[in-house]
Amino acid sequence: MTAKIIDGKAIAESIREEVKQNVTERLEQGLPVPGLATVIIGDNPASRVYVRMKHKACQEAGIRSVGHELPATATQDEVESLVKQLNDDPGIHGILVQLPLPAGLDEERVLNTISIQKDVDGFHPINIGRLAQKGREPLFVPATPAGVMVLLEKNGTSLDGAKAVVLGRSNIVGMPVSLLLLRENATVTICHSHTQDIPATLREADVVVAAIGKPGYVRGDWIKPGATVIDVGTNRVEDPAAKRGYRLVGDVNFDEVVKVAGAITPSPGGVGPMTIAMLLRNTLRAARLADARDIG
Ligand code: GUN
Repeated sequence: MTAKIIDGKAIAESIREEVKQNVTERLEQGLPVPGLATVIIGDNPASRVYVRMKHKACQEAGIRSVGHELPATATQDEVESLVKQLNDDPGIHGILVQLPLPAGLDEERVLNTISIQKDVDGFHPINIGRLAQKGREPLFVPATPAGVMVLLEKNGTSLDGAKAVVLGRSNIVGMPVSLLLLRENATVTICHSHTQDIPATLREADVVVAAIGKPGYVRGDWIKPGATVIDVGTNRVEDPAAKRGYRLVGDVNFDEVVKVAGAITPSPGGVGPMTIAMLLRNTLRAARLADARDIG
């Protein structure tokens, strides 16, 4: 048996189309065009690629996006005053500060400065805190974890009572996706660099979310037959035959795992496109929250 391939690209495309439709309807109703501001500090090449892709996606969806770039030498005060200026700008509904920040900047203080109403990344401590607590609702859910949840839902993977294993405990993916799985009543185990027997833990899992940034790490014989496997990894591996000298692979050994799992996302073409689609959805949501405040 080979696994069903979960086509993140197609699912993301339909969400992007839906956002575009909603933006068009807003404009017809005389509501403001949603506005996203991105802030990139320093010259991390991968961050630049990601931010460029986010701007392109905004443009295609009819969302206005404004890019701000600061040098790696920018001070904490300079970064925070830019964020405050964007907080006060009524034409900007969402603010995204691309991570990681250059060494020397205090990420927590920067994220704390973003208005929670404009926190389309969902990384503000209040939004993450609400995500972690029963009976509380964050204003925004981080894009990549939200995208993982949509892929699971579209695949029809049942989460209530399921054993879910998350590989990785990053603030951006591992931790928030674990909280989202818990909110859906999965029994969640988080594996990390100190976990003793990751293969044995994974063999129990009905759902696996891999987000550790190690190319091809998850092997076929670690997977319970029929499990759903979501690969968040996008790793560059050297490949002299490739035009750029590298190719992208996930955290999962796809060729092995596809033979055992019930469903699997490819990487690239799985979670990656969902991140951008969910950011667009969050930006539209931010604009709607602003409409509601304006109406009073
Ligand atoms: N760096 C890697 N992923 C993300 C993301 O989703 N948002 C931001 N702001 N930075 C990131």
